[in-house]
Parts: sequence; structure tokens; C-alpha cells
Amino acid sequence: MRTVFIFISILLFSATAFASGDVEQGKPVYEKYCRQCHGKDGAGDGPAAQYLNPPPRDFTLGIYKWKTTPFDELSPSDEDFIKMIKGWPAHNTVPGWDGLNGTSMPGWADVLGDNDTKDVIAYLKGLSGLEAPEKPPIDLKVKVAPSKESIARGKKIFGDVCSECHGDEGRGDGRKKLKDDLGARTWPRDLTKPWTFRAGSAPVDIYARLTVGIPGTQMPSFADPQSKKTLSDDERWDVANYVASLDAPYKKPGEGAVIKAVKVDGPLPDSPGAEWDKAAFESFYLVPQIIEGERLFTPTLASVSVKTLFNDDEIAFLIEWDDPTDSVPGDASAVDLSDGEVFKDGAAVEFPSSMGEKPYFGMGSASKPVDIWFWQNDGTVRAIKAKGASIVQDVSNGVSARGMYEKGTRQVVFKGPLKREWREEDAQRFVPVAFALWDGSNGEKGGRHTMTGWNSLVLGGGEGGSPYAWAAGAVVVVFILELLWLRGARRKDK
Ligand code: HEC
Ligand code: HEC
Repeated sequence: MRTVFIFISILLFSATAFASGDVEQGKPVYEKYCRQCHGKDGAGDGPAAQYLNPPPRDFTLGIYKWKTTPFDELSPSDEDFIKMIKGWPAHNTVPGWDGLNGTSMPGWADVLGDNDTKDVIAYLKGLSGLEAPEKPPIDLKVKVAPSKESIARGKKIFGDVCSECHGDEGRGDGRKKLKDDLGARTWPRDLTKPWTFRAGSAPVDIYARLTVGIPGTQMPSFADPQSKKTLSDDERWDVANYVASLDAPYKKPGEGAVIKAVKVDGPLPDSPGAEWDKAAFESFYLVPQIIEGERLFTPTLASVSVKTLFNDDEIAFLIEWDDPTDSVPGDASAVDLSDGEVFKDGAAVEFPSSMGEKPYFGMGSASKPVDIWFWQNDGTVRAIKAKGASIVQDVSNGVSARGMYEKGTRQVVFKGPLKREWREEDAQRFVPVAFALWDGSNGEKGGRHTMTGWNSLVLGGGEGGSPYAWAAGAVVVVFILELLWLRGARRKDK
């Protein structure tokens, strides 16, 4: 009888079915899967929380960021809750990740069935006494389709109202130090990397953010007539179309990317410029160093892009990444934007000292040393041989490096001697290469930095085929390292 009743109610009230979740049954689901981040009482203070940026949501406040009900309606819809928890299927663009992109909030579609989901939603609502929304979600029917004209109008509006936070080119290099309502540091999104958007990157998703705002943060609703910067409905569509057009696909890490070095005749460039057009960028995820020594849990840098040229004697790397700040120690505006002391920005390229079995990528070991080329934004350049993090020796081998910073993007060109064995016909020609970056305004210095794992560099156009496979594996493994660590934290609590 009861099942029949439930069946009928689902049929009749499928839109509201989720609201009927059971708080009592939601509690064990919460305890099992959510508590280690969101905390015993839901206050966002679980044991893992101290390592997470952005921090897990404090459910006792009843304030949710990724909702589609209007700015003056506190409660998300049930559909919103389901998406927050199960993920946005349409923007599932990072391999192995289906949660809120760019955060540690996993997607739970593979773990929670519909009943568990509705029960845990009921439990979350109970933590703040959240009522059902009085107002329906905003209208998400496309009003202004993307066109040259719409994008051009959007660009103008962006310059007037968005760039003060998101930077002139939308790369998140704002001039303001932003904190959310609870005092946590927030960085405006780099809008050229839509794969880092939490809640979808189609124009309609961006339009929803502009109309609703991102509650609890400084990103306001542009539909609020009280706001100084109200935008009409059409204007919000225009800006959304413009933001969607900022996507720079080359910045998105590919699966199993191999850096193909291009041979040039004559000298190699020692600074960025048109000569680099011959080569194509390959991009890689950056993961924070959390394995040893001084760890980093709050990275600001998401990915790095690399091009390589070589001639008979030398090799040059153009390394590009988006960094929200030009970290110049002592500089007043850098100090303003930083939370603590400003250190120098830096970059490093790492190779095995000799070909063969790959060394440990975190600075090698006594038996398998690595060579590191290191640059900092005060002009420091070093060539180092490392046999582990504490056995480091400067070597002089003709390495030069030069960098520039413009509107949120940094480019550094490294140039140094080419090792003969990298080109020997019979030897393995997939040269392992890894990269590390430091954002000095984010307290990064020494062992606190972001990095890639070993990637593959091929000189003179390798043949292709199976050796590419391990390169693919290495990239994915390192990216997943951090996720595993988080999943591990989750398992411990079971
Ligand atoms: C590994 C840590 C972690 C775990 C485990 C976790 N969350 Fe989260 N969650 C986060 C973080 C971090 C955020 C904040 C994301 C942001 O600010 O955009 C978040 C945000 C949320 C939000 C708010 C979304 C919004 O729109 O404001 C909800 C709802 C949520 N989590 C539900 C859950 C549920 C339910 C579970 C368990 C089934 C869970 N979380 C498990 C880290 C976690
Ligand atoms: C006062 C500062 C500020 C202004 C002005 C501002 N933003 Fe934001 N924006 C932010 C912050 C901070 C975030 C990140 C919030 C978070 O995830 O906690 C953000 C996030 C976003 C996102 C990411 C949404 C997602 O799903 O991850 C988009 C898109 C965006 N802003 C677009 C815009 C556009 C377009 C404008 C102008 C109409 C604008 N913003 C104006 C501060 C601002």
C-alpha cells in the first residue's frame, strides 16, 4: 500500500518529490560521505576543511552559491540541490572529475542513488531550517543568441562592470583583494578557462550566474535593481555570450599530451615573440605539492602551457601560465593584493640528468639525479643538479631565461644546451620533462608550489605509437593524485 502511494505521489508530484526526502535517513548518508569536509554539524569545518580552497560550504547558514532561483530568494530549488550534489552533466569536461569543477567538491552521481540524494538534501535543509522557495527559478530560455554583434556589445559591458574584478582580458587578474562573506580569500574566475567554472560554462549557465549572482561572495546579481550596476536582461545575455567567447581552448590540458619540439635553423629566440608561432602549445594540469616538506593546499595556478624549439646545439622552452598577480616583493600593489608576505614568482623546468629509468619527479635522488632550470621574476636564473630536495648543486651550463607579465598572463623563455642523447636515433627519444611554478603572492616559496608530473618531450617529430601511452598515464596519474588524497580522506571516515 505504502509503495503504491509513493509511486502515485512520484507520478503526480515529480517536481516536488525530492522535497519529501527523509531527514533521519539523510543523516547516515551525510555522516558517511559529507562530514569529513562539511563537518560534524554541517558548519563547513570537517577535518579536511583546513586543506581546502574554496572551503566546504557551511550548511548552517543556508546560503548556496550555484542556484537558479532569483537573487531575492534564499532557497535553491530541489533541481539546484541535485545538480550541486550530482554534478552538471553538461560541463563534465575534466577527465575523472564530475563535481564542482575547480573545487574539491566531488560529484556523487556514482555513489548516491535518488533516495539517498533526496534524503541527504532534506538533511542539509534541516541544518539551516531552509524553507521551500517561494519564487520559481529564473527563466533560462535563450533570449539573445551568440552573434558577432552580441559579443561586441557584451565586451563593452564587460569593460564597464566586470573587468575591475576579472581583469581587462577576463583572466582573473583583478585589482581588488576579494573575500567572501565569511572572510575566506576568493579569486575571481579566470574566464579564459571555462573548464574551471563550477556550474557550467555555456552562455545560459553564465547568464544564470549574472542574474542570480554568487551568494555569499562579492560577485553580485546584475538583475538586482538596488545594485549600482544593474544590467537589463538583454545586456546580461550579451555579456554571457562575450564571456563564453573568451574560451582559450589551448589552455585546457589535453589527455596524454606530448610536447613536440620543432627544429629551427639558426639561433633560438630568447624571449617571447612571433618566432614561436612555428610550435604549438601543449597544456598540463598543475597540482599543488602535498607530498613532502612544506605543502601547498590553496593553489592559485591551474594549468601551464608549453612550446619548444631546438637547433643542433640548444633547446628553448616558452612556458605560459595565467597568474592573477605579478608578485614583486615590496611592491605596494602586490602587497595590497597578497594575504601575507609577497615572495617572487618563479618557474622551473626539470629533466633527468641522464636518460634511462625515470627519476623521482620531486627533485630526483642520489642514484637518479635531475637537472633543473630555474627562473624568478627578479631576473634570477639558476641551473641546478639535484639528488633529492636537500642535495642541490649549482652548475654553470649556459642556461638563460627571460620572462614577462601582461594582463594576467606570464610567459618565460628558457634556453639552454641540448643533450646529445636526447636526439640519438636508437636511444629512447621521449625525454621526460616536468614543470614547477611559484605564485609568490600566494605564499609560494621553496617546497610550496604547484607542479606537473613527468611529461614527454619529443625532438624532431617522434614516430608516434605506443611510447605515448605512458606519457598519457603520467599526466592523468598526477592529476588524480590530489583527488585520491581527498577520496582517501573520505574513506577514513567511513
Ligand atoms: C572532499 C571534500 C568534500 C566532500 C567529501 C563533500 N563536499 Fe560538498 N563541498 C565541498 C566544497 C569545497 C564546497 C564548496 C564549493 C564552492 O565554493 O563552490 C562544497 C559545496 C557543497 C554544496 C554547496 C553548493 C552550492 O551551490 O553552494 C553542497 C550542497 C554540498 N557541497 C553537498 C555535499 C554533500 C551532500 C556531500 C556528501 C554526499 C558533500 N558535499 C561532500 C567539499 C566537499
Ligand atoms: C566585485 C567583484 C566581481 C564583479 C564586479 C564580477 N565578478 Fe564574476 N566573480 C567574482 C568572484 C569572486 C567569483 C568567484 C566566486 C566563487 O566561486 O566563490 C566570480 C565568478 C564568476 C564566474 C564563474 C561562475 C562559475 O560557475 O564558476 C563567472 C562566469 C563570472 N564571475 C562572470 C562575471 C561577469 C560576466 C561579470 C560582469 C557582468 C562579473 N563576473 C563581475 C567577482 C566579481
